Amino acid sequence: MPIPKAELHLHIEGTLEPELAFELAARNGVTLPYADTDELRKAYAFEDLQSFLDLYYELMAVLRTEQDFEDLANAYLVRAAAQGVRHAEIFFDPQAHIARGVGMGTVVEGLWRALGRSEENHGVSTQLIMCFLRDESAESALRTLEAAKPYLDRIVGVGLDSAEVGHPPVKFREVYEAAAALGLRRVAHAGEEGPPEYITEALDVLGVERVDHGLRCMEDPALVERLVRERVPLTLCPLSNVRLRTVDVLADHPLPAMLDAGLLCTVNSDDPAYFGGYAGDNFAAVRRELGLSEDRLRELARNSFVASFLEHDEERRAR
Ligand code: ADE
Ligand code: ZN
Repeated sequence: MPIPKAELHLHIEGTLEPELAFELAARNGVTLPYADTDELRKAYAFEDLQSFLDLYYELMAVLRTEQDFEDLANAYLVRAAAQGVRHAEIFFDPQAHIARGVGMGTVVEGLWRALGRSEENHGVSTQLIMCFLRDESAESALRTLEAAKPYLDRIVGVGLDSAEVGHPPVKFREVYEAAAALGLRRVAHAGEEGPPEYITEALDVLGVERVDHGLRCMEDPALVERLVRERVPLTLCPLSNVRLRTVDVLADHPLPAMLDAGLLCTVNSDDPAYFGGYAGDNFAAVRRELGLSEDRLRELARNSFVASFLEHDEERRAR
């Protein structure tokens, strides 16, 4: 029986497995520039975040209809449930779809067809977090928030993702203020490839409650002390860090040092179809490669519920 856990860092578009990509391509008359799933998998040798993002955005071309988004989400939920995920806070990237002529309504309604029935069908409660692409303009982010207004009953919060370096959090001050005024929760990717200063800025300028990745906080002891003191959760993604080369090998991952420092760490999968594993696979990998004890693994699972946006009653039920 896998440990019950919450997944707090998961891009739904990053759960697009090669088999489903080809199935949806055929259904929608989209031609992929790969002969088959084997050839596509060979393209999964990434140099850095950008080389991954190029493929991630390219493959989104197969996602066109509500049915596609429903199928994508259901495929994820089946895998997540099998790995002990009881609650998932799921990112989506509307700008990447709107730019291809696929509207906010298609994306949210499609995902919701799966998420709205997820508790009964899969035993997994879910929430949706809408991410802004940080390599797009602040105006585009504001337009995206506007487009989301009819769907806010299905969106718990906002996040910030895509190419980090050169796109500091401060660029999105206004849209985060507007999101807060609408009652949305706030998270942001920071300190994945970008410097520790981006983590501080995400906290101070964007008012985030949780930091996605946050790995590079370890370069700044004063920041670590602050994150510990303020109990700011970090959503770490160990297999992602190896595949995107922010750490050389999993055995070098700073997770044990981060736990020893008292940081509120969680373990998540990021883009599991691309990085070699879902939430349970990430737990198994850190246990194996970092020698984490059963107690440490239970602490990570407990942290995932503490750091979630679940109300406490729901949190207890999930455990
Ligand atoms: N979008 C999807 N996965 C991402 C990641 N790991 N970092 C930034 N943006 C992303
Ligand atoms: Zn991510």
